[in-house]
Amino acid sequence: MVKNAVAIDILIKIVEEGGKITTGIDVYNEQGILLLDKNVIVNTLKPLEFIKENGITSIPFSSDNNCGVWDANGNSIIFDKDGSFETIESQKPPVLGGIEKRVFEIQELKRISTEKYNGAKDTIKKVLGDIKETGGNFDYDEVYSDVRDLVAFLTIEDNPFSYLTKEIFSYDDYLYNHSINVCAIGTAVVNSFNTTFSAFINTHLNTKQELDSSPFSNTEKKSEEAYKCFQKDEIEHICTGFFLHDIGKVMVKDEILNKPGKITPAEFDEIKRHSYEYGIKILEKNKLNNPFLTNTVKYHHAPLFKGQEKGYPLDKEPNELPAYVKICKLSDIYDAMTSKRCYKEAFNQINVVTDIFRSYAKKDNIMQYILHSFVKSIGIYPAGSIVYLRNGQMGYVLESAGPLIIPFTDTQGKTLSDNSNPLDLSEYKSDNILKIDNRRSIKTPREVYDLLPSYLKPKTD
Ligand SMILES: [Fe+2]
Ligand SMILES: [Fe+2]
Repeated sequence: MVKNAVAIDILIKIVEEGGKITTGIDVYNEQGILLLDKNVIVNTLKPLEFIKENGITSIPFSSDNNCGVWDANGNSIIFDKDGSFETIESQKPPVLGGIEKRVFEIQELKRISTEKYNGAKDTIKKVLGDIKETGGNFDYDEVYSDVRDLVAFLTIEDNPFSYLTKEIFSYDDYLYNHSINVCAIGTAVVNSFNTTFSAFINTHLNTKQELDSSPFSNTEKKSEEAYKCFQKDEIEHICTGFFLHDIGKVMVKDEILNKPGKITPAEFDEIKRHSYEYGIKILEKNKLNNPFLTNTVKYHHAPLFKGQEKGYPLDKEPNELPAYVKICKLSDIYDAMTSKRCYKEAFNQINVVTDIFRSYAKKDNIMQYILHSFVKSIGIYPAGSIVYLRNGQMGYVLESAGPLIIPFTDTQGKTLSDNSNPLDLSEYKSDNILKIDNRRSIKTPREVYDLLPSYLKPKTD
């Protein structure tokens, strides 16, 4: 049964004041894109603002007991038809305390993320399967529609897939997961980059300042077009490009792609062809000459700055490459390095980000903007992950900002019998023992399940 719909502006105000909502009914826009999953507990403004941007003025609620609107104290808010409302003390949710409530929310997000991830996996499996079977054909419209749905989810949630374990069991699995991860990371970065640049370009247009004083100065000025701001539908095509960036790999023999040992120069030449030759052939066969796709597929391994020796193909100057291609390359490197493969362990996320930053910083102004967006969006310590402190304690991340963690072992790694108080690590100086030990990998709760106290244990894993 559907309860009254509630005006989006009222909901924004309630959440702004620390309240939360769960609709129990999926919210779609006019094009049928899912804007809000019915089970999500909304306690940040981002999803509501996203819904409002899509022209939705009110949201319906299910009459299910688990759904509704709560104020900052957990009191239930009841709405009348005329929009007036009253607060009823201590109704649902939850009887859960602060930390348990947060853990529950993280687990809900993880559950929905897993569903979305599996949906995306079916999509990429089908694309690659169709290409193999037909010698190159696949249904772009279907992929585009699935990726639009995914992008809507990735846009409202911060790093939703960083919860998921990156253990890769087979090459096929690697390619599926890698396609989704590059799309997820790339979407976050392109959104952040676009926001920064919208503000930047608008400032310059409004003040009519010369672009000479801008990041487009000197040699980069001619490539200004390559860094323009993107519209919503352009972003959706860009993200579909991220999703499909490696499609050319289906035409490289499995023996080469899966080779556990060192590959020969001839084999490496064959692998390189997945981008500028095989990938482009597949796009041509499907009559897809959308530049967002062709540029990404062709140039996602190209050098990113003048003088970078590695990279292919070389028929475009680095400053002519669109920003989204550079974003795809960084996301590709990040995912490849932080994934576990048959021939290598996963590298620590922090070290990978630091390496990427060192390799690409200060090469040119645009790369600097892209790198900042990258570091900002990557979400090293997603809520729900497990980190080690320098004193040997392990902590569960409650909020990625800070991060805010709850230590759950002693310095010897033994589970604490009492609940500890959350620690905001940003309050400690960089040389403090209560900082994260970056030499040790960030783990998922599943990996350290036995050590977790019951109130932090994933319920559905
Ligand atoms: Fe590639
Ligand atoms: Fe790739």
